[in-house]
Amino acid sequence: MQLHILVGTVHGNATEVAQTLAFAAADLGFEPQVLPMDGLTTAAFAQDGLFLLCCSTTGNGDVPDNAQALYQSLDLQPQYLGTTRYGLVALGDSSYGDTFCGGAKAFDTRLQDLGAQRIGAMCEIDAMLADDAPAQALAWWAQWTAQIPQQQAAPSAA
Ligand SMILES: Cc1cc2nc3c(=O)[nH]c(=O)nc-3n(C[C@H](O)[C@H](O)[C@H](O)COP(=O)(O)O)c2cc1C
Repeated sequence: MQLHILVGTVHGNATEVAQTLAFAAADLGFEPQVLPMDGLTTAAFAQDGLFLLCCSTTGNGDVPDNAQALYQSLDLQPQYLGTTRYGLVALGDSSYGDTFCGGAKAFDTRLQDLGAQRIGAMCEIDAMLADDAPAQALAWWAQWTAQIPQQQAAPSAA
């Protein structure tokens, strides 16, 4: 099973998380591909496989600049994404209050508006916590993979 890991980042924390999860995914028999969101459009979701969005938040609850094209495309070039299944890894900082992880949450809303279905709970990685981001992501990963429907799981994860 292909796992397309789409990365929205400003300073690279989300990329580090994505790469950590890609290694974990390969260990389970997935075929992971880490892809920066730069320049992607809604068409990126017209591929077989599962999607994992790793997205940080900037500004005041905004998606990173490199994720803007994809985020806007979901609005301006909408397609029915009823067969799309995705997981969501949100990077943020709870000291920002109400806008905590706002970038990833904005993607979540827009994807679900188009019919895509999120698997499991969102992973919220809080820069305020002592654990590093990859460690927080790996703790979530074990729970997430257990929720992937059997027919979509990698052979060794089934
Ligand atoms: C200028 C700036 C604005 C930010 N705004 C928010 C915010 O509104 N909400 C939030 O949860 N985190 C916010 N953050 C925290 C980042 O999302 C967090 O540090 C994250 O780990 C950055 O990941 P990245 O390096 O992949 O971009 C902000 C960080 C910066 C530098």
